[in-house]
Amino acid sequence: MIHPEDFELLRRIVKSRSGLTLSPDKAYLLENRLMAVARKWGMNDIEGLAATVRGTPNEELLREITEAMTTNETLFFRDQSPFEQLEKVVLPRLLESRQGTRHIRIWSAGCSSGQEPYSVAMVLKQLGSVMDNWRVDIVATDISRTMLDKARAGLYTQFEVQRGLPIAMLMKYFSQAGDKWELDPGIRAMVHFDEFNLLNDPAPLGRFDVVFCRNVLIYLDQPTKGRVLENIRSLMPDDGVLYMGGAETVMGVTEKFQPVSEHRGMYEIVSATAGNYPRGTENYASNP
Ligand SMILES: C[S@@+](CC[C@H](N)C(=O)[O-])C[C@H]1O[C@@H](n2cnc3c(N)ncnc32)[C@H](O)[C@@H]1O
Repeated sequence: MIHPEDFELLRRIVKSRSGLTLSPDKAYLLENRLMAVARKWGMNDIEGLAATVRGTPNEELLREITEAMTTNETLFFRDQSPFEQLEKVVLPRLLESRQGTRHIRIWSAGCSSGQEPYSVAMVLKQLGSVMDNWRVDIVATDISRTMLDKARAGLYTQFEVQRGLPIAMLMKYFSQAGDKWELDPGIRAMVHFDEFNLLNDPAPLGRFDVVFCRNVLIYLDQPTKGRVLENIRSLMPDDGVLYMGGAETVMGVTEKFQPVSEHRGMYEIVSATAGNYPRGTENYASNP
């Protein structure tokens, strides 16, 4: 059993470095995940890990502790409808409104092992010649170096490609590499991966027309969620679109975004020019 003061120390480190909140009932999770970090650093138990952190805190050790506590669950075309909307509603609108620059920028914030930004890249590729002479930047960021390395490698297990990826896409864009599936280098090259902590100022990442920030903020407390969403808003033009996870809401978190009717998970910016898309409510009970 982890000592309460060790749990408190490690919980605080994780919270201050990533925003992730760990309630006392998550002590078992912290213990399970941090045992591997402790062993890697030559310690036998969590007590030893906590003692090291108290004594001579090492930046790399603190980073690994934080990274070990992230939840990286993801899949290709997760929830399906955001990708259908992107293809059928959002991109056609951007192709009209961005005629002047022919440049669109999309951000997958909290991209985990890459399935989300690669799903976006496949949607774009499927559009074919419509995208000729357009520049589309897909920027994918995460706090976890392990996940970013996996994402960049573009290698997925049989289990991973069976989750959400249509068989036609598997056949078209993946080839077998040993017991894994390797994503086509052309699709991989469409996504630029970078380490980025959502607690930091995102201004250096530039402007984004579409932001996917799905199933990331669920692990943060309300004030932190609000700050992250306001930072995201500051990077978006007034007609930008935000996607959040199916179980997430902006209600009580920020007034910068509002849900778009009939497009679950899709949010538009509240501004003088809002109303680019039909306005929705957050009561999905009667609008599944
Ligand atoms: C559950 S995954 C979601 C992946 C993908 N967006 C999806 O919906 O399938 C959450 C990801 O957010 C990342 N994350 C957590 N806290 C973060 C932070 N403060 N900054 C950047 N990424 C963070 C985690 O490392 C993890 O890979």
